[in-house]
Amino acid sequence: MLSYRHSYHAGNHADVIKHLVEVAILLYLKKKDKPFCYHDSHAGAGLYSLNSEQALKTGEFGSGIGRLMQHQPQSAALAAYLELIRELNPNGQLQFYPGSPAIAKMLLRRDDSIQATELHPSDFPLLQAQFLNRRHCRIEQMDAYAGFRAMLPPLSKRGLVLIDPPYELKTEYQDLVKGLQQAYQRFPQAVYAIWYPVIERASIEAVIQAIVDTGIRNQLRIEYSPKADSEGFGMTGSGMLVINPPYTLATEMTEALQELSPLLADGTAQWQVTQLVGE
Ligand SMILES: C[S@@+](CC[C@H](N)C(=O)[O-])C[C@H]1O[C@@H](n2cnc3c(N)ncnc32)[C@H](O)[C@@H]1O
Repeated sequence: MLSYRHSYHAGNHADVIKHLVEVAILLYLKKKDKPFCYHDSHAGAGLYSLNSEQALKTGEFGSGIGRLMQHQPQSAALAAYLELIRELNPNGQLQFYPGSPAIAKMLLRRDDSIQATELHPSDFPLLQAQFLNRRHCRIEQMDAYAGFRAMLPPLSKRGLVLIDPPYELKTEYQDLVKGLQQAYQRFPQAVYAIWYPVIERASIEAVIQAIVDTGIRNQLRIEYSPKADSEGFGMTGSGMLVINPPYTLATEMTEALQELSPLLADGTAQWQVTQLVGE
């Protein structure tokens, strides 16, 4: 069952947090001259029109990226993220929003490589079409975890693996923990960024604990909720669990979330940047 389409949610508050973290990690990896690999396990369609029927139906981008277009950023990470969004929307009108692979495409250098897997029969061709002319690129209509077995580790032995499942099915949390362990065994040098929703607090804490219990070292949790846990039904917040984070990431995200929190708040906002497991 693949009913999830990211076009309904592109640019919402959860995308802002996810992509802010992604941009900060990619910019860090670019500081070294050596090429690296970006691997996106649940890539989506890549680029989203915010004038589409789907985006306008939910209007979710209005309480995410829509609140930031006129903002003059102070923190470096927020500035870098907003620069990309503004580059895509040069006349200042918010029309397009980049998904995670499109962000990587904008930032990666000629010799860096991109690998992506996406299962949806409608989103996959949209994604594939955006990478037709790129070198060092492998885009497959393949299950995320089969993709780890087929493509990790990459030749470059450094990189970012972004894991962003839709969590439509309860089993996806178990699949995530198992898949992460398999990927990590193959490619322990990588930075892993795992997106998670805050829907029911106890359930997400159990998933995070299961990832901590894998024994994988160096785990940083970055989380932002525009609403208090009890204030809404559905997703009240989201986070990124980052394994092997750049040493600058915790400080960068603390500064960015201090600035972002009141801008995206929809009630009692809360955020945290917490080292869950040491190096
Ligand atoms: C949250 S969306 C991805 C959004 C994208 N990462 C971004 O930030 O722009 C999750 C995507 O995973 C895809 N998907 C679901 N199950 C999958 C699986 N087992 N393997 C690969 N892709 C899957 C869905 O079709 C959907 O497009």
